[in-house]
Amino acid sequence: MMKVVILVMLVCLLIEAAICVEGDDQNWSTTQHEEDLHVNLGLGKEKVTRLHFYFHDIISGKKPTAMKIAQPNTTNNSPYLFGVLFMADDVLTVGPESTSKIVGRAQGLYGSADQQELGLVMALTLHFTEGKYNGSNLSILGRNGALHSPRELPIVGGTGLFRFARGVAIANTYNFNSTTGDAVVEYNVTAIHY
Ligand SMILES: *[C@@H]1O[C@H](CO)[C@@H](O)[C@H](O)[C@H]1NC(C)=O
Ligand SMILES: *[C@@H]1O[C@H](CO)[C@@H](O)[C@H](O)[C@H]1NC(C)=O
Ligand SMILES: *[C@@H]1O[C@H](CO)[C@@H](O)[C@H](O)[C@H]1NC(C)=O
Ligand SMILES: *[C@@H]1O[C@H](CO)[C@@H](O)[C@H](O)[C@H]1NC(C)=O
Ligand SMILES: *[C@@H]1O[C@H](CO)[C@@H](O)[C@H](O)[C@H]1NC(C)=O
Ligand SMILES: *[C@@H]1O[C@H](CO)[C@@H](O)[C@H](O)[C@H]1NC(C)=O
Repeated sequence: MMKVVILVMLVCLLIEAAICVEGDDQNWSTTQHEEDLHVNLGLGKEKVTRLHFYFHDIISGKKPTAMKIAQPNTTNNSPYLFGVLFMADDVLTVGPESTSKIVGRAQGLYGSADQQELGLVMALTLHFTEGKYNGSNLSILGRNGALHSPRELPIVGGTGLFRFARGVAIANTYNFNSTTGDAVVEYNVTAIHY
């Protein structure tokens, strides 16, 4: 009897699991062909949205919007502060002034990831709070060569009206205060989405 049970178990391991695992739903993933996508997901046509705003990275003063959360003991000996990590909840505004109308926030992490020059790795959610895109988000993930202007960052996804987004953000430092470390950066985002 024991031999039979072991034999059945071995057979189960060898042949398709579907036959042996009763009542288990095997369809946990499906792939659709591209031509069906619009219909099945109700996506409509692809469109391009361009956004223009200023990103305020304030690390000084009483109410910083970005702060250092970690660094290794070698960061202060590194010319490019390699290893330092910041968490940001930075304001996005229509104009460059700090009093300008807020259209969203950039929330997430950036850190120094290059030992040869200043190169940040950014993992940010652009959360919009005004107009048509209020409540929709875009994700930035990539390198920010912060001393170069203009520089390019990839848009790797989105939510809300920006579902399935991809695109690029062109950044240009508008103002950098070397005493305080505060920066205002102009952004032009081009996002393709549905
Ligand atoms: C899994 O999906 C395929 C294709 O849609 C379908 O033919 C099959 O019957 C499904 N199997 C189960 C167990 O739901
Ligand atoms: C950093 O810390 C490590 C481990 O504690 C130590 O071996 C190293 O000497 C330290 N380096 C510096 C620059 O302080
Ligand atoms: C944006 O959406 C939130 C949540 O739905 C709402 O409370 C807020 O008033 C909206 N803002 C604008 C400017 O429409
Ligand atoms: C966008 O991000 C905000 C803030 O992180 C969050 O509250 C909101 O739910 C997100 N919207 C969507 C559609 O995921
Ligand atoms: C953004 O686009 C505007 C209008 O085309 C242009 O004047 C500006 O220089 C651009 N800025 C960046 C950072 O690409
Ligand atoms: C930098 O910030 C300090 C402190 O707020 C201010 O006194 C100084 O004028 C600023 N420098 C520039 C170039 O904006």
